[in-house]
Amino acid sequence: MKFDVLTLFPEMFVPVKSSILGRAEKNNLIEINLINYRDFSTDPKRHVDDCPYGGGAGMVIKPEPVYDAYESIVSKLNYKPKLIYLTPQGKTFNQNMARNLAKEEHLILLCGHYEGIDQRVLDEIVDEEISIGDYVLTGGELPAMILIDAISRNVEGVLDEKSLVDESFNNILLEYPQYTRPEVFRGVKVPEVLLSGHHANIEKWRREKALEITKIKRPDLIN
Ligand code: ADE
Repeated sequence: MKFDVLTLFPEMFVPVKSSILGRAEKNNLIEINLINYRDFSTDPKRHVDDCPYGGGAGMVIKPEPVYDAYESIVSKLNYKPKLIYLTPQGKTFNQNMARNLAKEEHLILLCGHYEGIDQRVLDEIVDEEISIGDYVLTGGELPAMILIDAISRNVEGVLDEKSLVDESFNNILLEYPQYTRPEVFRGVKVPEVLLSGHHANIEKWRREKALEITKIKRPDLIN
């Protein structure tokens, strides 16, 4: 899975170059290219924004650097990767979307900043708009990292397969509680059944706990 990220702040992307995703990239399971569209500005001062037509606060990102950065990617290809624009106006991201997007070979993620991007270039290149929730951030970089993380962990080989099977949202239920050593922590013992070695009973207990937790924390997932 290849991600090309169009951003004005490539230095923000340290988290997706670390830990599990860092290892996945070293192992060639994913590739994350950061493309600064400021590099495509033709302005002597490398400006990429200007005042909005019609007036109003803030600055708007000009269409040309975004388009030229996009062209620099797709002009080398004989297929058209899906381009996702991160915006609070988009469809709210969820696990199902992460799983479906993991089936793509190549995604381009476009991050806005300031008051937004000139609508003409968005109309020209955007295939899908995605939001990470009903709040407004200063830019699309954190949302892009969230997509990269949630999608990458569904790419084959990035996690061990069993982690994906048990986890929250796959079977509409949240995950059961987990315990590790020590057997007693501050006077509280690990549930007896987990020490029993009886796999069928453990499975049953975990299913019941998952259901109980989902009913309490996210009843909307059941109804
Ligand atoms: N850009 C700013 N806020 C955002 C959000 N909530 N989701 C996606 N992109 C954004």
